[in-house]
Amino acid sequence: MAEVWRGIVREYLDHLPFDESDRIVSLGEGGTPLIYAEKISSEVGAEVLVKYEGMNPTGSFKDRGMTSAITQVVKDGDHTVVCASTGNTSASAAAYAAHAGLRCVVMIPQGKIAAGKMAQAIVHGADLVQVDGNFDECLDIVRELSESYPIALVNSVNPYRLQGQKTAAFEIVDQLGEAPDIHMLPVGNAGNISAYWMGFKEYAEAGRASRTPKIWGVQAAGAAPFVLGHPIKDPETVATAIRIGKPASWDLAVAARDESGGWIRAVTDEAILSAQARLAAEVGVFVEPASAAPIAGLLAAAAAGEVPRGATITCTVTGNGLKDTATALGDRTLDPTVIPVDVEAAASVLGL
Ligand code: F0G
Repeated sequence: MAEVWRGIVREYLDHLPFDESDRIVSLGEGGTPLIYAEKISSEVGAEVLVKYEGMNPTGSFKDRGMTSAITQVVKDGDHTVVCASTGNTSASAAAYAAHAGLRCVVMIPQGKIAAGKMAQAIVHGADLVQVDGNFDECLDIVRELSESYPIALVNSVNPYRLQGQKTAAFEIVDQLGEAPDIHMLPVGNAGNISAYWMGFKEYAEAGRASRTPKIWGVQAAGAAPFVLGHPIKDPETVATAIRIGKPASWDLAVAARDESGGWIRAVTDEAILSAQARLAAEVGVFVEPASAAPIAGLLAAAAAGEVPRGATITCTVTGNGLKDTATALGDRTLDPTVIPVDVEAAASVLGL
C-alpha cells in the first residue's frame, strides 16, 4: 500500500516543538504538489514550479500554521481562539477549531472578504464580526482582546503559526532534492515569507539542502509597505487577501529579504489578474488573485532581464481560486450555450 500523508506535524515532528504524546489537531494538511509551469518556464528562461497551497484542507497555506497553533492551544487548555483575517486565516481557524471542539471568534474588514472564505467561517461555526476598518485595525482589536480575556490569538504573531508554515520550505527541498535558486511568494502580513526563510535555513543547517534560496517577495502596488519602506494607512487592491498596510512580521520579513540576498517588489492589480488567468489557462492551476502576485512579479523580473538563465524558481501559490470565483470570472457570465438532447446539435455548436 502507498504511504498515507499524516499532516505536517507528524511528518516533520523532528523539526517542530511537539512530540508523540501531544494530541495533534490535524486535517491532513501539507504534502501539496509542486507543479512544473512549462510555458512560463520557457518564457522566463528558467525552471518554474508552483507550490499549490490551494490543495490544503481549507484551500490555503494557513492550514500548515493552524494545525500547529491549534495543537498548542489544546495543549495549553484554552477553549477559545481569535483571529483577524482577510479571509483565509479565519477559514482555517474556524475549521481547526471545529475539529478540536473550540470556540472560534473572527474579526474581518467589512465587505472586503471573498464570498467563499466568508462561507467557510460561517459553515464551520465561527462567531464572525465585521469591523468598519481594514485588516490592520482588526488585528489591533484581536491583539487587545487576547491580552484582556482568556482567548488565544492564532494570527501569525503567534509563533506556533510560523513553526507550522515553515514546513512548506521543507517540502520544496524534499520534492526537488535541493533548495531552489530563488523562492517567490506573495507578502501581506509577512508571516509566510518569515516562515519560509526559517524553514529553508533550518533545512540547510540540518544538511537537507546545500544552500538557501534568494527570497523574492511580491506585494500588490496599492498595498506595498515594504516597497515604500514604511506602513501605509489605506491599502487597496483587488487581491483582498494581501490588502494589508501594517505587516505584523515586519522585521522578520526584512531579514528574510536581506539575509537571502532577495527583494520585495510590487505588481499592479492588472498584472495580478493577468497572471491568475495564465495560471488557470496554461498550467491548470486555479488560484485566488493574491496567489498570482509572485507569477506577475516573476514575469516583470524576466521582462527586465533579471531572471538568471536556467535557474530553478519555486513560487508559492497560496490559496485556491474556488474561494473567489467572482473576481476570476470578471465580466464573463455563467451561461454557456444550451442545446437540445441531440448529438448533431452538440457537434454543430462545437464546429465539429
Ligand atoms: N496569500 C493569501 C491567499 C493569503 O490569504 C495571505 C494572507 C497571503 C498570501 C499573505 O501571507 O500574510 O503571511 O504575508 N492572508 C491573511 C489572512 C492575512 O487573514 O488570511 P502573509
